[in-house]
Amino acid sequence: MKGIILAGGHGTRLYPITLAVSKQLLPVNDKPMIYYPLSVLMLANIREILVISTPEDLPNLARLLRDGSHLGLSITYARQDEPVGLADAFILGADHIGDDSVALVLGDNIFHGYSFYDILQENTADVDGCVLFGHPVSDPERYAIAEMDSLGRLVSIEEKPAHPRSNRAVVGLYLYDNDVIDIAKNVQPSARGELEITDVNRVYLERGKAKFVELGRGFAWLDAGTPDSILQASQYVHMLEGRQGVRIACIEEIALRMNYIDAEACYRLGEELLPSSYGRYVCALATEFGHAPQPAGTFS
Ligand code: DAU
Repeated sequence: MKGIILAGGHGTRLYPITLAVSKQLLPVNDKPMIYYPLSVLMLANIREILVISTPEDLPNLARLLRDGSHLGLSITYARQDEPVGLADAFILGADHIGDDSVALVLGDNIFHGYSFYDILQENTADVDGCVLFGHPVSDPERYAIAEMDSLGRLVSIEEKPAHPRSNRAVVGLYLYDNDVIDIAKNVQPSARGELEITDVNRVYLERGKAKFVELGRGFAWLDAGTPDSILQASQYVHMLEGRQGVRIACIEEIALRMNYIDAEACYRLGEELLPSSYGRYVCALATEFGHAPQPAGTFS
């Protein structure tokens, strides 16, 4: 399975913060926002990743994530000149996807919860159709909303409905089989002029090939698109990291734990980030995993 992170758009709900900086590079507590969606793909064992963004923001994203090889990944980049809709990701990413399946994650979506690794492993294997994930929200008018029947089957999806039929939002992580490229190419712009991902998902629903997985109320999902939601996300991550002494979405740690890199490589990545506490955390973790720090003045 290939991965795509959609990290474009103008971030207008965050003006003036995003007049000169990409939203997906803003901090969520101790790390850039894009680390969170990137960590989702890494946990799903997806190592070939395309990052899509604006011509202005791509150079900075590439400066941060490079070609991914330091993390045991392959990261490539594609430009989206205008934010014409989420479904555009499959048109711009068609070559990257090739004849494979694909996971799309939105660059401002943050996921954290028990068993997420298992949920990802379970649902990324042999995708036939699409897999959508749902989460309860208090403001359903802001999202795509899924309606279920009494047997828990998905019956409708509506993008930002004025009269929502449920409080279950379809979150910004989507898994598709290869048909998604053709489906996206045939989607017509919506009333608001966008190639809506919800229209892609509806085609799968009509074909009886849309699986809906509830992330449940014990799970945290945050769409960090406004000043309030970025602050809430930062507070959430800050609280958990402070209490537990572990980091959420530390991409070096995930690369190490997933065996994409060894302890030596992880230690070097941590060293690059010293003297930050993030860098110290990465170095300490690498040491725990078997890297033996060299005494000062010795060379190996
Ligand atoms: O967060 C989940 C929601 O994301 C879903 O429930 C909705 O179905 C989906 O449409 C989307 O709603 P948003 O209102 O959050 O979409 P927004 O236009 O803000 O785009 C989401 C992110 O994708 C945002 O960070 C900017 C980026 N983007 C958006 C568009 C339309 C792009 O990179 N390119 C685009 O063309």
